[in-house]
Amino acid sequence: MSGTAEASIQSDFVFVPRVAEIAREAGARLREYFVQGVETEYKGDVDLVTVADRAVEKLIRGRLGEVFPEHGIYGEEGTRERLDSEYRWYVDPLDGTTNFAHGFPQFCVSVGLEHRPRGTRPDDDGTLVAGVIYDPMRDELFTAERGRGMQVNGKPARVSRVPQLAEALLATGFPSRKRHASPNIHFYHEFTLRSHGVRRAGSAALDLAYVACGRMDGFWEFNLNPWDTATGILLVEEAGGRVTDFAGAHYRLASDEILASNGRIHEELIGFFADMFAGRNLSPIPTAEEFARARKNREQGVGNSK
Ligand code: IPD
Ligand code: CA
Ligand code: CA
Repeated sequence: MSGTAEASIQSDFVFVPRVAEIAREAGARLREYFVQGVETEYKGDVDLVTVADRAVEKLIRGRLGEVFPEHGIYGEEGTRERLDSEYRWYVDPLDGTTNFAHGFPQFCVSVGLEHRPRGTRPDDDGTLVAGVIYDPMRDELFTAERGRGMQVNGKPARVSRVPQLAEALLATGFPSRKRHASPNIHFYHEFTLRSHGVRRAGSAALDLAYVACGRMDGFWEFNLNPWDTATGILLVEEAGGRVTDFAGAHYRLASDEILASNGRIHEELIGFFADMFAGRNLSPIPTAEEFARARKNREQGVGNSK
């Protein structure tokens, strides 16, 4: 793309240029903490938090407050400011904390803006209008504003054209709280058998950004929060994809289920979720005992196939 075209995209944006600057500053701070290494604390179960999560949320809160003093802010690390405002930012200062804490370089900053016109009831969603996800380790900036498409480092990007699940690369994640209550391992198993594979890379915001720019074809997860999803949803929609719950209903920020895709495989995914919830067409997983028995048989030369 020519420099002139890039400049014209930039000049159409209302929020993105200023938020991109904030996200880049926040990302640079994360990168410094990542290189120097940080102590890890537990918020619960295996829900980790570091000094970086808190410091970077504070930085973003301060910068957003300077640039958009009228806007509300809702952040993962506890920020709740001006929540009755017409505009509200959802901030995840560090999506992928577990990766970050282990030195695994897959994490990002996610900042997304919801427009909540006067009269929007507290439990109702407004409209997601702008958002930025920044991956500081790859220096990749994913941006979108409602009606203006989606960009990676300023260049327009689209969802993939993969037409069916059998050819799709998918992503998912697992909760870090109440892990025993999650059924997701069953979905992971079934989707692995029916697609090119499922990646569990540890940053839901980047998973959504990757669906948006066509690196992945679909993503699902249970029990995410608005700070994890708000920006990514807008990116996927602006890139031509679709975001719903597992039954195909309109996605709500408080939803316990998110299903995002390139749009082309969406109906197939929804049908598959319906089958899974009804216990239809499932593929049994060998138990550990069955596997041990088969291994023993192999060792003793009873049947030789892998
Ligand atoms: C987590 C990541 C992860 C997802 C978890 C989220 P955090 O966010 O997005 O991919 O599987 O459910 O909680 O805690 O690293 O900001
Ligand atoms: Ca998160
Ligand atoms: Ca986080």
